[in-house]
Amino acid sequence: MQDISLQGQVAIVTGAGGGLGRSYALALADAGAAVLVNDTGGALDGQGGERGAAQSVVDEIVSRGGRAVANTDSVASPDGGESIVSQAIAELGGVDIVVNNAGILRDRSMGKIDWDDFQSVHDVHLRGSAHVSQPAFRHMREQRHGRFIFIGSSAGTFGNFGQAAYGSAKGGIMSLSGIVAIEGERHGILSNVVCPIARTRMTDSMLDDALDLDPDHVSPLIVYLASRGNAETHQVFSAGGGRFSRVFVGLTDGWFTDSARTTANDIAEHMGDILSTEQFSVPANAADEITALAKRLENHTATGGR
Ligand SMILES: NC(=O)c1ccc[n+]([C@@H]2O[C@H](COP(=O)([O-])OP(=O)(O)OC[C@H]3O[C@@H](n4cnc5c(N)ncnc54)[C@H](O)[C@@H]3O)[C@@H](O)[C@H]2O)c1
Repeated sequence: MQDISLQGQVAIVTGAGGGLGRSYALALADAGAAVLVNDTGGALDGQGGERGAAQSVVDEIVSRGGRAVANTDSVASPDGGESIVSQAIAELGGVDIVVNNAGILRDRSMGKIDWDDFQSVHDVHLRGSAHVSQPAFRHMREQRHGRFIFIGSSAGTFGNFGQAAYGSAKGGIMSLSGIVAIEGERHGILSNVVCPIARTRMTDSMLDDALDLDPDHVSPLIVYLASRGNAETHQVFSAGGGRFSRVFVGLTDGWFTDSARTTANDIAEHMGDILSTEQFSVPANAADEITALAKRLENHTATGGR
């Protein structure tokens, strides 16, 4: 099999001044893409800014023979998103790939939410991903090609104690990617989520030192999803330590009854059937679920509920 090449393509990686984003930017550049390396260079909670973080990754890419430009705009405002995309178009000639990776942490449990922190976390993760993606989507729609990779988290897919703002923002990102995938398909735009597990400044204190969780273990999936050869869209992947998996939202076949006569007691009695994952489907979109339900209703009526 020929090596996957991103030659002639332009990628934006947000939050790429360190950690996972740096690894994605280097891997995309090694595969031939010209890369806009965005990073405000702030602390883990988003405060402050070491403006040189993005430039130092650009220098690394250039020293390896690649092409890259630095950008220090914050993804947290719509203007920042516009400016990141316009710079990629003006200085690198377009946008084919967007990796929405920028992130901050301000962990609080539900009972202790601080609303300013909640908003800042959503502004960077959820709104930030949308701020960059909207101008990029418009550009990709015109050129009839594009690849979005949104960065999720197990805190968003499965939930995690103490991460009300972060987890809900990451959950929203998963839904946003799904909408981009559904709306983008007719324009040649594909969108997927990667939920990484890697040792960075964000996770170092939570991970066992013995685990080999290098950010570079995640990057091959980013490069594959960014490539023209990738046909997957509307998927969620988990990647870390050399393990690559699919995460999905499924719908159990559940328990089907005559709705007019169902009581709360019936629900209690059949909760096991409702929850059983023995038979399930993965609807492609909301309409898919309704079509499947309509079919079951038709069958139910045709067989007189038998
Ligand atoms: N490390 C993991 O195991 C893990 C797990 C799940 C999800 N993630 C996600 O992966 C992404 C990268 O995280 P990381 O672990 O490499 O941590 P990190 O702190 O090293 O990377 C985040 C980067 O985003 C930048 N950033 C923050 N606010 C920004 C803004 N407003 N505009 C532009 N850049 C901004 C930071 O300066 C930083 O370089 C994050 O979205 C994080 O939530 C990481």
